[in-house]
Amino acid sequence: MSAPVAVVPGQPVAIAADVHWVGALDPDLRQFDIILRTANGTSYNAYAVRGSAGVAVIDTVKAEFAADFFARLWACCRPDEIRAIVLNHLEPDHTGALPELLLAAPQARVYLSAAALKMLKGIVKDGVDESRLVVVDEDTRVDLGGRSLRFLYTPYLHWPDTQCTWVEEDGLLFSGDVFGCHFCDARLFNDRVGDFRFSFDYYYQHIMRPFREHVLSALDQIEPLPIRLVAPAHGPVLRDAPLSYVRRYRQLATPQLANEAGEREKTLLVFYISAYGNTARMAQAVRDGAEGVDGVRVSLYDLAGGDAAPFVDLIEEADGLVFGSPTINGDAVKPVWELLSSLTLVKVKGKFGAAFGSYGWSGEAVGLIEDRLRGLKLRVPRPGVKVKLIPTDEELAACTTLGRELAEHLVGRAAPRHIDFTAPGALVA
Ligand code: FEO
Repeated sequence: MSAPVAVVPGQPVAIAADVHWVGALDPDLRQFDIILRTANGTSYNAYAVRGSAGVAVIDTVKAEFAADFFARLWACCRPDEIRAIVLNHLEPDHTGALPELLLAAPQARVYLSAAALKMLKGIVKDGVDESRLVVVDEDTRVDLGGRSLRFLYTPYLHWPDTQCTWVEEDGLLFSGDVFGCHFCDARLFNDRVGDFRFSFDYYYQHIMRPFREHVLSALDQIEPLPIRLVAPAHGPVLRDAPLSYVRRYRQLATPQLANEAGEREKTLLVFYISAYGNTARMAQAVRDGAEGVDGVRVSLYDLAGGDAAPFVDLIEEADGLVFGSPTINGDAVKPVWELLSSLTLVKVKGKFGAAFGSYGWSGEAVGLIEDRLRGLKLRVPRPGVKVKLIPTDEELAACTTLGRELAEHLVGRAAPRHIDFTAPGALVA
């Protein structure tokens, strides 16, 4: 079958000899997984790979698009020819048609990661006959006759279950969500569709970026492969210069600030916003305290003057974060929460954090910020500083101490903390 110019309903699209795209287009989607916006929809890419011994189906589609998927699949194989169903990722946009496919091809075995196995019951409520399930690893080889499937262990891209499937004989990488994007274009191939670079980067930033270390591990496995085509689970099929997309991931996932600051220098960011200048003075004192510690580079940012987005880049590469907010109506103020809510986009687990702020009569902001930092799995080694209205010299000195002690934690020179367990409140300090 020759590849049509554009995707046609009911027709599979050849992406290589005896390999077909059997997915579905969703051009009207404008929001994906609640958090992602998409200007021109998405695609759910599934593939059928034929060998002389049978057919492998790689992923399926969102449930609402099952009819499109099956129309394309049955146009390129019979149900009894399917011997393998590969699940690169169990999220429902790729497993919506799985229950029906399992019934249609009862002889097919299901190849999935160990983590996926634990999730499968949540996806196929009627269960799957255990004799059909094969947990794969890097040593597994599924021989389809003339071509075979291998598997790359790539967890957390972006779920624990994720893996890539590699067809060595043809240089085909079925990469799941990796190298994908929400960009629907019926011309399907990257050398035919419109410019989707913004969408590719946007997808990385919102889906893969929190798992940057896992991305880098996956790239270590992927980069040496003699790849001729990357077939992701969303967006264009990457047949023209596929390695440029692999290189782009490497660029996106490589820390830039660390290169400039040097590995030996720790970075501490102090964010604040201030209604009457009191929290601002506290911020400067925190900064002064931290700056006195060798090996720590301190930056001070007023959230009244900046968008959250560039700060997220800085935060990703920083070692410590301090947030200062006044308390207004019993809460920290909106710009602080906006920045804190953006932190789900990056990995902050294990960084050091602290909070401070001036207040009028209640002062909840500091505790609420600390709770949020702990919720994000930052380490909050020192209690924050709360000041009623205008800080005294003594209170500013407490801010200086907070900055200094946090910086000492960053460089591993923090003094051991002595807790008197007989003191009232010691266990909740
Ligand atoms: Fe496209 Fe993570 O599902």
